[in-house]
Amino acid sequence: MTTVRCGLIGHPVAHSRSPDIHRAFAAQASIALDYVLIDAEPGEFPDRVREFFADGGRGLNVTLPHKAVAFALAEEAGDEAWQSGVANVLTRLPGGRLRADNTDGIGLVRELTKNLGFDRADRRILIAGAGGVAAGIIPSLLAAKPREIVIANRTPDRAARLVKHFENQRLAAIPLPDLRGSQSFDLVINATSASLEGKRPDLPDDAIGKATLACDLVYADEPTPFMRWATALGARTADGGGMLVEQAAESFLLWHGIRPDTVSILHHFRSRLQSD
Ligand code: ATR
Repeated sequence: MTTVRCGLIGHPVAHSRSPDIHRAFAAQASIALDYVLIDAEPGEFPDRVREFFADGGRGLNVTLPHKAVAFALAEEAGDEAWQSGVANVLTRLPGGRLRADNTDGIGLVRELTKNLGFDRADRRILIAGAGGVAAGIIPSLLAAKPREIVIANRTPDRAARLVKHFENQRLAAIPLPDLRGSQSFDLVINATSASLEGKRPDLPDDAIGKATLACDLVYADEPTPFMRWATALGARTADGGGMLVEQAAESFLLWHGIRPDTVSILHHFRSRLQSD
């Protein structure tokens, strides 16, 4: 059996769960996979990517802080990457051309619909954060025609720029303080990196109601400050573990032509998180 080389490039990458997830998918699909971690600082990213593919690599997952550069480096792109301008997957096509995709949005949508039973149509969605993660999930969220998506960011200009980029009437930027007194949202997504610093975005309590689903896109072995806050206000919560597994499954499909069964892997992944 030929071994296929794939990997994750970012900075930092040491604590990533992606190797575990991809190796479990490969075992399930009987594919011989070598999944490597590449820690690349921003200045060395393009060279490390070229080196990986020149050495016969098939695909790279891309994480912070390289998602925008990954998109710019590719010669072809899937719809979600085109629309958002950020990519979390690079694939070497036959002939050597490089393709960029963004599977974060479809990963989140699968987690919402399949695993959490949330239907996005005609719903009010609030996204906290306006960085690469927020940009990546917007096309897939818009595709289901929600009633509105509001973006609120600590730095309001960035949220306004993101809204301008998409030019969609369902999308609006609102400064955080202006959310006070608002009606609660059906879905509140924490797309900031605040959880990584043990903090939460400064959203007002009004954003959350008893029927709200509050999703942190960061995965953790215990509830994040954002999840604890939302739980205290009566919301149902989820972390980013499901989205991580689902976006990885979409990358796996792009590289190997097989979509893994994510249910058993998600279970395995959660038990690994608990035992580490
Ligand atoms: P990513 O690709 O993860 O989105 P990013 O582009 O650095 O990374 O964006 C991080 C996001 O988290 C931004 O929206 C950032 O807000 P600013 O634009 O104001 O910097 C947000 N963020 C990070 N730490 C935060 C905190 N402690 N509270 C609120 N928002 C935070």
